[in-house]
Amino acid sequence: MSIQKIYKYPDPVLRKKTEKITSFDEDLKNLVEDMVETMYDAPGIGLAAPQIGQSVKLIVVDITEDPEGEKKYMPMINPEIIVHEGKQLDEEGCLSVPELTANVNRYKEISVSYQDLEGKSRELSTENRFAVVLQHEIDHINGVLFLDHLSPLKRSLYKKKVKKWLVK
Ligand code: NI
Repeated sequence: MSIQKIYKYPDPVLRKKTEKITSFDEDLKNLVEDMVETMYDAPGIGLAAPQIGQSVKLIVVDITEDPEGEKKYMPMINPEIIVHEGKQLDEEGCLSVPELTANVNRYKEISVSYQDLEGKSRELSTENRFAVVLQHEIDHINGVLFLDHLSPLKRSLYKKKVKKWLVK
């Protein structure tokens, strides 16, 4: 297991088309372990494969219930939102979009189809904060950043800020 580099906006790998995962092998388990380690090191509560430069449909999310207890996580392979309902506005940030938090409009409730590490098809329905995390991570495997959901003004202010960092 090892901590991987997290790619940051505007790296093109964050926009690249991702491949569906069809081999549920040792390589996939190793990739999941790397992503989990990278996510907790950051620290974050979710991570998508493109964020570590892997253009595949894989996300990991933190599902720890007791903050004092053992960390729990869930890998979701080939996840897709199949049902959505309602709206909510909540603050988001992203390990690939440093120094920005902003309110984003999301669905309130979602159902997601995905596969587990063994390749078994599963479905999960959730709402509120966890639904936000899943929508944010699933966006990543579709090349979308939370930045894309903001107003053109907020987006251009952030782009200017990033340009200044890149010049330095
Ligand atoms: Ni993110």
